[in-house]
Amino acid sequence: MNFVNEPELDLTQEAVQKHLQQAFAQLDATDTPDIPLVIGGKRIYTDETLASVNPAQKSEVVGNLSLAQPAQIDDALAAGRRAFQEWKFISVADRNQLATKLVNLVREHRYELIAIIVEESGKNVGEADGEICELIDFIHAYMIGMEQLKDGLDYLVPSPVESREARYLPLGVGAAIAPWNFPLAILGGMVMGAVLAGNAMIMKPSSDTAVVGYRLFELMEQAGFPTGLINFITGKNAEMGDYLVKHPKLRFINFTGSKQVGLHINQLAATPQPGQIWIKRVVAEMGGKNAIIVDDDADLDQAAAGIISSAFTMQGQKCSANSRLIVLDSVYDQLLAKVETRMKALNHDPARANGDVGPVIAKRAFDKITSYIDYGKDNPEQNTLLVGGNYDDTQGWFIEPTLFEVTATSRIFNEEIFGPVLGVIKVSSFEEALQLANDTAYGLTGSLYSKNQAHIKTVVDDWYVGNLYINRKTTGAVVYQHPFGGFNLSGTDGKTGTTNYVQQFLELQSVTNHH
Ligand code: SER
Repeated sequence: MNFVNEPELDLTQEAVQKHLQQAFAQLDATDTPDIPLVIGGKRIYTDETLASVNPAQKSEVVGNLSLAQPAQIDDALAAGRRAFQEWKFISVADRNQLATKLVNLVREHRYELIAIIVEESGKNVGEADGEICELIDFIHAYMIGMEQLKDGLDYLVPSPVESREARYLPLGVGAAIAPWNFPLAILGGMVMGAVLAGNAMIMKPSSDTAVVGYRLFELMEQAGFPTGLINFITGKNAEMGDYLVKHPKLRFINFTGSKQVGLHINQLAATPQPGQIWIKRVVAEMGGKNAIIVDDDADLDQAAAGIISSAFTMQGQKCSANSRLIVLDSVYDQLLAKVETRMKALNHDPARANGDVGPVIAKRAFDKITSYIDYGKDNPEQNTLLVGGNYDDTQGWFIEPTLFEVTATSRIFNEEIFGPVLGVIKVSSFEEALQLANDTAYGLTGSLYSKNQAHIKTVVDDWYVGNLYINRKTTGAVVYQHPFGGFNLSGTDGKTGTTNYVQQFLELQSVTNHH
């Protein structure tokens, strides 16, 4: 199969706008759904629920989520185990056929999915549509990945006395523990990567965005994935997550989220539980403290546009977002003037109207991000507020795009904030810029704006990040164009959106038959 990126919608087209309006109108007219757990095909509605709310209008409940208890996690793993015993023998061609059906269903329900994503995550329609494309691209990439691996290794030395084969086997039942910030694409990619490799999955969306997660699950059911192969679980993230991760019958964890939670999962997973007969595999995509360096010969308009997009799209709530800006002193004032002008021009239209500035996801995010803004304001030796700094949670969790001039010791320059707060620092040499950029335990994305070929070569040689960009923003990796994943404490570098991705959910068996 040939890979072609799924085209994005043209939001300027009248027909597209009409479809969007219809989808939002339909969503508004629909009763707030109760979201069940789905275990072995059985829907379970719990008495105690958790509300998923619209972060732009926090009084609006988007869905009421059921809360899984330990016994239901046990059941989900048992259902997964049963389904796995059959699914592992289903051919790659047959698995891929179901995936193609899912792709078509996602296309068919594109506007409906966009509307739910916008409502539940607070991201704008353009970003939500990007998720549709990314999910479809992920699925296609993983289908191709399995086509490439299905026959195993092709280079074993032949022998007259024995036949030799090395073939990939799926692992068993895994869990996809997904983030809220790409509630369709990342969740779907994490589940489908493992399922297409032949595994069964516990699908656990973030409780901030489980309504869209459930809609995706329903489409997977509709596509015909066998009952019990994918089990849908929601609950209080930490409590339920720990029980799931520690479970002796869980074979692997595919996690995307914060560094703190990722390391916690890695630690829990590392301790074998009674009855556990394997080392749990952990695939983790975590945070970043991503820098952009602006060199003294950079195209400053191009750099300013890239900075604004990297730092403030989706309120800076992407692991790939730019949160450290490092600028050579000779262009510092000029660049900052351009960045400030563009920041002030960001519009506050609603996410439905594709506005630039939306809410952050939840109260805990609002509290964390605003605590950094307060810290910045209260510590003038290390931080000078240049733009923004206001916030308001009367209706939704809104924080102004904010820019601080900082010192290298500022917490704003060193800690992941995961919000619309950018720290800028002035340096006197390119070497100092790169040294600062590398001075972090993270290693996800980095970007250099420069025309200097020697400097470009130096960052290619010496900037240790999973996704290095030259004269391009740090966000918006595209499947099959920019394999995505981080080094160091940013994760296990699983590189989503590649054919290689599926290999993480497989093990290689060598079969030798002596004649
Ligand atoms: N892949 C996304 C990006 O590149 C982040 O998850 O922005």
